[in-house]
Amino acid sequence: MSQTNIERTSNSNRVARPQRYLMCRPTYFDVTYSINPWMDPSIPTSVDTGLAQWKRLYDTFVALGHDVALIEPVPGLPDMVFAANGATVVGGRVLVARFRHRQRADEAAAYLDWFRADGWSEVRQAEYLNEGEGDFLYVGGQLLAGTGFRSDLRGHHEAREYFGVPVLSLTLVDPRFYHLDTALAVLGPDEIMYYPGAFDEDSRRLLAERFPDAILADEATAAVFGLNAVSDGRNVLLSEQAVRLAGDRLRERGYTPMGIDLTELLKAGGNAKCCTLELRG
Ligand code: ARG
Repeated sequence: MSQTNIERTSNSNRVARPQRYLMCRPTYFDVTYSINPWMDPSIPTSVDTGLAQWKRLYDTFVALGHDVALIEPVPGLPDMVFAANGATVVGGRVLVARFRHRQRADEAAAYLDWFRADGWSEVRQAEYLNEGEGDFLYVGGQLLAGTGFRSDLRGHHEAREYFGVPVLSLTLVDPRFYHLDTALAVLGPDEIMYYPGAFDEDSRRLLAERFPDAILADEATAAVFGLNAVSDGRNVLLSEQAVRLAGDRLRERGYTPMGIDLTELLKAGGNAKCCTLELRG
Protein backbone atom coordinates (compact mmCIF):
# COMPACT_ATOMS: atom_id res chain seq x y z
CA MET A 1 0.00 0.00 0.00
CA SER A 2 1.40 3.40 -0.94
CA GLN A 3 1.71 6.29 1.46
CA THR A 4 -1.34 8.05 0.00
CA ASN A 5 -3.43 4.90 0.28
CA ILE A 6 -2.60 4.65 3.98
CA GLU A 7 -3.55 8.27 4.51
CA ARG A 8 -6.81 7.78 2.68
CA THR A 9 -7.76 4.67 4.61
CA SER A 10 -7.35 6.46 7.90
CA ASN A 11 -9.25 9.52 6.77
CA SER A 12 -12.74 9.20 8.19
CA ASN A 13 -13.19 12.83 9.18
CA ARG A 14 -15.17 13.88 6.14
CA VAL A 15 -17.36 16.84 6.89
CA ALA A 16 -20.93 17.03 5.59
CA ARG A 17 -21.80 20.54 4.48
CA PRO A 18 -25.44 21.63 4.61
CA GLN A 19 -26.71 22.06 1.08
CA ARG A 20 -29.69 23.64 -0.61
CA TYR A 21 -31.21 21.44 -3.29
CA LEU A 22 -34.05 21.85 -5.77
CA MET A 23 -36.20 18.82 -6.54
CA CYS A 24 -39.38 18.09 -8.50
CA ARG A 25 -41.98 15.55 -7.41
CA PRO A 26 -42.59 12.92 -10.15
CA THR A 27 -46.36 13.56 -10.20
CA TYR A 28 -46.51 13.21 -13.99
CA PHE A 29 -43.68 10.71 -14.36
CA ASP A 30 -43.95 8.38 -17.34
CA VAL A 31 -41.90 7.04 -20.23
CA THR A 32 -43.81 8.14 -23.32
CA TYR A 33 -40.86 8.78 -25.64
CA SER A 34 -37.27 7.59 -25.92
CA ILE A 35 -34.38 10.04 -25.91
CA ASN A 36 -31.80 7.76 -24.30
CA PRO A 37 -31.18 3.98 -24.47
CA TRP A 38 -32.76 3.38 -21.04
CA MET A 39 -36.19 4.62 -22.13
CA ASP A 40 -38.56 2.03 -23.55
CA PRO A 41 -42.13 3.35 -23.76
CA SER A 42 -43.47 -0.22 -24.05
CA ILE A 43 -42.41 -0.97 -20.45
CA PRO A 44 -45.10 0.11 -17.98
CA THR A 45 -44.28 2.68 -15.30
CA SER A 46 -45.94 3.38 -11.97
CA VAL A 47 -46.35 6.93 -10.70
CA ASP A 48 -47.03 5.60 -7.20
CA THR A 49 -43.79 3.62 -7.10
CA GLY A 50 -41.88 6.55 -8.60
CA LEU A 51 -43.35 8.93 -6.02
CA ALA A 52 -42.57 6.60 -3.12
CA GLN A 53 -38.97 6.09 -4.25
CA TRP A 54 -38.45 9.78 -4.90
CA LYS A 55 -39.89 10.58 -1.45
CA ARG A 56 -37.25 8.37 0.16
CA LEU A 57 -34.53 10.41 -1.54
CA TYR A 58 -36.21 13.66 -0.46
CA ASP A 59 -36.68 12.43 3.14
CA THR A 60 -33.05 11.31 3.32
CA PHE A 61 -31.79 14.76 2.32
CA VAL A 62 -34.05 16.37 4.91
CA ALA A 63 -32.98 13.89 7.61
CA LEU A 64 -29.34 14.75 6.83
CA GLY A 65 -30.13 18.40 7.52
CA HIS A 66 -30.25 19.70 3.95
CA ASP A 67 -32.70 22.33 2.77
CA VAL A 68 -34.77 21.02 -0.14
CA ALA A 69 -36.82 23.42 -2.25
CA LEU A 70 -39.48 22.11 -4.63
CA ILE A 71 -40.47 23.19 -8.10
CA GLU A 72 -44.07 22.48 -9.16
CA PRO A 73 -44.26 19.64 -11.72
CA VAL A 74 -45.92 20.51 -15.04
CA PRO A 75 -48.39 18.12 -16.72
CA GLY A 76 -47.05 16.82 -20.04
CA LEU A 77 -43.41 17.09 -18.93
CA PRO A 78 -42.74 13.55 -17.60
CA ASP A 79 -38.95 14.06 -17.30
CA MET A 80 -39.25 17.14 -15.10
CA VAL A 81 -38.45 15.01 -12.03
CA PHE A 82 -34.84 15.18 -13.25
CA ALA A 83 -34.30 18.62 -11.76
CA ALA A 84 -30.52 18.45 -12.17
CA ASN A 85 -31.05 19.17 -15.85
CA GLY A 86 -32.97 22.39 -15.27
CA ALA A 87 -30.02 24.69 -14.66
CA THR A 88 -26.47 25.14 -13.42
CA VAL A 89 -26.04 27.34 -10.34
CA VAL A 90 -22.64 28.59 -9.25
CA GLY A 91 -21.87 31.52 -6.96
CA GLY A 92 -25.47 32.76 -7.04
CA ARG A 93 -25.57 32.89 -10.84
CA VAL A 94 -28.14 30.75 -12.62
CA LEU A 95 -27.82 29.47 -16.18
CA VAL A 96 -31.09 27.77 -17.11
CA ALA A 97 -30.97 24.85 -19.52
CA ARG A 98 -31.63 24.78 -23.23
CA PHE A 99 -32.68 21.20 -23.90
CA ARG A 100 -31.62 19.29 -26.98
CA HIS A 101 -34.90 17.42 -27.38
CA ARG A 102 -38.19 19.19 -28.00
CA GLN A 103 -39.91 16.81 -25.54
CA ARG A 104 -38.08 18.55 -22.68
CA ALA A 105 -37.75 22.07 -24.11
CA ASP A 106 -40.67 23.54 -22.13
CA GLU A 107 -39.10 22.63 -18.81
CA ALA A 108 -36.78 25.64 -19.20
CA ALA A 109 -39.60 28.17 -18.78
CA ALA A 110 -40.67 26.54 -15.52
CA TYR A 111 -37.11 26.81 -14.17
CA LEU A 112 -36.74 30.44 -15.27
CA ASP A 113 -39.97 31.26 -13.43
CA TRP A 114 -38.96 29.33 -10.34
CA PHE A 115 -35.56 31.03 -9.99
CA ARG A 116 -37.02 34.50 -10.51
CA ALA A 117 -39.79 33.86 -7.98
CA ASP A 118 -37.24 32.49 -5.51
CA GLY A 119 -35.37 35.80 -5.65
CA TRP A 120 -32.26 35.01 -7.70
CA SER A 121 -31.21 38.14 -9.57
CA GLU A 122 -28.66 36.69 -12.01
CA VAL A 123 -30.81 34.34 -14.06
CA ARG A 124 -30.83 33.66 -17.76
CA GLN A 125 -31.42 30.85 -20.18
CA ALA A 126 -28.44 29.42 -22.03
CA GLU A 127 -28.19 30.43 -25.67
CA TYR A 128 -26.56 27.14 -26.71
CA LEU A 129 -27.59 23.57 -25.93
CA ASN A 130 -26.98 23.08 -22.25
CA GLU A 131 -28.58 20.43 -20.03
CA GLY A 132 -27.68 21.99 -16.71
CA GLU A 133 -26.14 19.83 -14.03
CA GLY A 134 -26.71 16.78 -16.20
CA ASP A 135 -23.60 17.95 -18.07
CA PHE A 136 -22.03 20.61 -15.83
CA LEU A 137 -20.46 19.50 -12.55
CA TYR A 138 -18.71 21.93 -10.21
CA VAL A 139 -15.59 20.69 -8.41
CA GLY A 140 -12.51 22.42 -7.06
CA GLY A 141 -13.45 25.87 -8.35
CA GLN A 142 -14.00 24.64 -11.88
CA LEU A 143 -16.77 23.21 -14.03
CA LEU A 144 -16.40 19.83 -15.68
CA ALA A 145 -18.58 19.90 -18.75
CA GLY A 146 -19.85 17.00 -20.82
CA THR A 147 -20.57 16.96 -24.54
CA GLY A 148 -21.15 14.33 -27.19
CA PHE A 149 -24.84 13.63 -26.67
CA ARG A 150 -26.65 16.62 -25.17
CA SER A 151 -24.82 19.85 -24.31
CA ASP A 152 -22.93 21.65 -27.03
CA LEU A 153 -19.26 22.73 -26.92
CA ARG A 154 -20.48 26.28 -27.50
CA GLY A 155 -22.54 25.79 -24.35
CA HIS A 156 -19.31 25.03 -22.50
CA HIS A 157 -17.77 28.32 -23.69
CA GLU A 158 -20.93 30.15 -22.72
CA ALA A 159 -20.76 28.68 -19.20
CA ARG A 160 -17.11 29.74 -18.87
CA GLU A 161 -18.02 33.33 -19.78
CA TYR A 162 -21.15 33.47 -17.65
CA PHE A 163 -19.72 31.97 -14.46
CA GLY A 164 -16.15 33.22 -14.90
CA VAL A 165 -14.68 29.87 -13.86
CA PRO A 166 -12.46 27.46 -15.83
CA VAL A 167 -14.38 24.81 -17.77
CA LEU A 168 -12.86 21.44 -18.61
CA SER A 169 -14.65 19.95 -21.63
CA LEU A 170 -15.06 16.18 -21.64
CA THR A 171 -16.43 14.09 -24.49
CA LEU A 172 -18.81 11.24 -23.74
CA VAL A 173 -18.81 8.31 -26.16
CA ASP A 174 -21.14 5.62 -24.74
CA PRO A 175 -24.85 6.36 -25.41
CA ARG A 176 -25.85 4.69 -22.13
CA PHE A 177 -23.94 7.44 -20.34
CA TYR A 178 -25.30 10.37 -22.28
CA HIS A 179 -24.99 13.00 -19.53
CA LEU A 180 -21.78 13.72 -17.61
CA ASP A 181 -23.57 12.96 -14.33
CA THR A 182 -24.17 9.37 -15.44
CA ALA A 183 -20.42 8.81 -15.80
CA LEU A 184 -18.81 11.03 -13.16
CA ALA A 185 -19.68 11.92 -9.57
CA VAL A 186 -18.28 14.76 -7.47
CA LEU A 187 -17.56 13.43 -3.98
CA GLY A 188 -15.59 16.12 -2.16
CA PRO A 189 -14.13 19.59 -2.69
CA ASP A 190 -11.59 18.18 -5.14
CA GLU A 191 -12.43 14.50 -5.40
CA ILE A 192 -14.35 12.62 -8.06
CA MET A 193 -15.32 9.08 -9.04
CA TYR A 194 -15.78 8.20 -12.72
CA TYR A 195 -16.12 5.42 -15.25
CA PRO A 196 -13.28 5.89 -17.78
CA GLY A 197 -15.03 3.82 -20.48
CA ALA A 198 -17.67 6.54 -20.89
CA PHE A 199 -15.08 9.06 -22.17
CA ASP A 200 -12.97 9.44 -25.28
CA GLU A 201 -9.21 9.06 -25.04
CA ASP A 202 -8.40 12.78 -24.73
CA SER A 203 -10.92 13.20 -21.96
CA ARG A 204 -9.58 10.18 -20.08
CA ARG A 205 -6.11 11.73 -20.25
CA LEU A 206 -7.37 15.10 -19.03
CA LEU A 207 -9.21 13.48 -16.13
CA ALA A 208 -6.19 11.39 -15.14
CA GLU A 209 -3.95 14.49 -15.14
CA ARG A 210 -6.38 16.69 -13.24
CA PHE A 211 -7.63 14.04 -10.76
CA PRO A 212 -4.82 11.50 -10.27
CA ASP A 213 -6.44 10.22 -7.05
CA ALA A 214 -9.94 9.78 -8.44
CA ILE A 215 -11.89 6.61 -7.71
CA LEU A 216 -12.16 4.68 -10.98
CA ALA A 217 -15.48 2.87 -11.25
CA ASP A 218 -16.03 -0.22 -13.37
CA GLU A 219 -18.65 -0.72 -16.03
CA ALA A 220 -20.94 -2.73 -13.74
CA THR A 221 -21.10 0.19 -11.29
CA ALA A 222 -21.79 2.67 -14.09
CA ALA A 223 -24.49 0.38 -15.51
CA VAL A 224 -26.48 0.55 -12.25
CA PHE A 225 -26.14 4.35 -12.27
CA GLY A 226 -23.53 4.27 -9.51
CA LEU A 227 -21.95 7.47 -10.82
CA ASN A 228 -25.24 9.31 -10.57
CA ALA A 229 -24.49 10.14 -6.96
CA VAL A 230 -25.07 13.14 -4.71
CA SER A 231 -22.42 13.88 -2.07
CA ASP A 232 -22.57 16.46 0.70
CA GLY A 233 -18.88 15.93 1.36
CA ARG A 234 -19.47 12.97 3.63
CA ASN A 235 -22.74 11.19 2.81
CA VAL A 236 -22.95 9.84 -0.71
CA LEU A 237 -26.43 8.96 -1.95
CA LEU A 238 -26.51 6.54 -4.85
CA SER A 239 -28.39 3.52 -6.16
CA GLU A 240 -28.64 0.51 -3.84
CA GLN A 241 -27.04 -1.81 -6.38
CA ALA A 242 -24.14 0.61 -6.69
CA VAL A 243 -23.56 0.58 -2.94
CA ARG A 244 -23.06 -3.18 -3.14
CA LEU A 245 -20.50 -2.71 -5.92
CA ALA A 246 -18.68 0.48 -4.95
CA GLY A 247 -19.57 0.99 -1.27
CA ASP A 248 -16.25 -0.28 0.06
CA ARG A 249 -14.27 2.03 -2.22
CA LEU A 250 -16.22 4.98 -0.83
CA ARG A 251 -15.91 3.85 2.79
CA GLU A 252 -12.13 3.43 2.35
CA ARG A 253 -11.97 7.14 1.56
CA GLY A 254 -14.05 8.11 4.58
CA TYR A 255 -17.39 8.59 2.82
CA THR A 256 -20.67 7.12 4.02
CA PRO A 257 -22.50 5.54 1.09
CA MET A 258 -26.30 5.50 1.39
CA GLY A 259 -28.30 3.33 -0.99
CA ILE A 260 -31.54 4.67 -2.47
CA ASP A 261 -33.80 2.49 -4.60
CA LEU A 262 -34.82 4.58 -7.62
CA THR A 263 -35.37 1.70 -10.06
CA GLU A 264 -38.68 3.17 -11.23
CA LEU A 265 -37.04 6.42 -12.32
CA LEU A 266 -34.20 4.44 -13.88
CA LYS A 267 -36.73 3.43 -16.56
CA ALA A 268 -36.31 7.00 -17.83
CA GLY A 269 -32.53 6.88 -17.49
CA GLY A 270 -32.15 8.78 -14.24
CA ASN A 271 -31.18 8.23 -10.63
CA ALA A 272 -30.30 10.16 -7.45
CA LYS A 273 -28.17 12.93 -8.92
CA CYS A 274 -30.54 13.49 -11.84
CA CYS A 275 -33.28 14.30 -9.31
CA THR A 276 -31.16 16.84 -7.46
CA LEU A 277 -30.13 20.33 -8.55
CA GLU A 278 -27.54 21.95 -6.28
CA LEU A 279 -28.26 25.58 -5.48
CA ARG A 280 -24.91 27.23 -4.83
CA GLY A 281 -25.65 30.64 -3.38
N1 ARG B 1 -35.14 10.95 -19.58
C1 ARG B 1 -34.26 12.00 -19.21
C2 ARG B 1 -33.45 12.45 -20.40
O1 ARG B 1 -33.10 11.62 -21.21
C3 ARG B 1 -33.38 11.56 -18.08
C4 ARG B 1 -32.51 12.63 -17.56
C5 ARG B 1 -31.65 12.15 -16.42
N2 ARG B 1 -30.93 13.21 -15.79
C6 ARG B 1 -29.63 13.28 -15.64
N3 ARG B 1 -29.15 14.26 -14.94
N4 ARG B 1 -28.81 12.45 -16.20
O2 ARG B 1 -33.16 13.60 -20.58
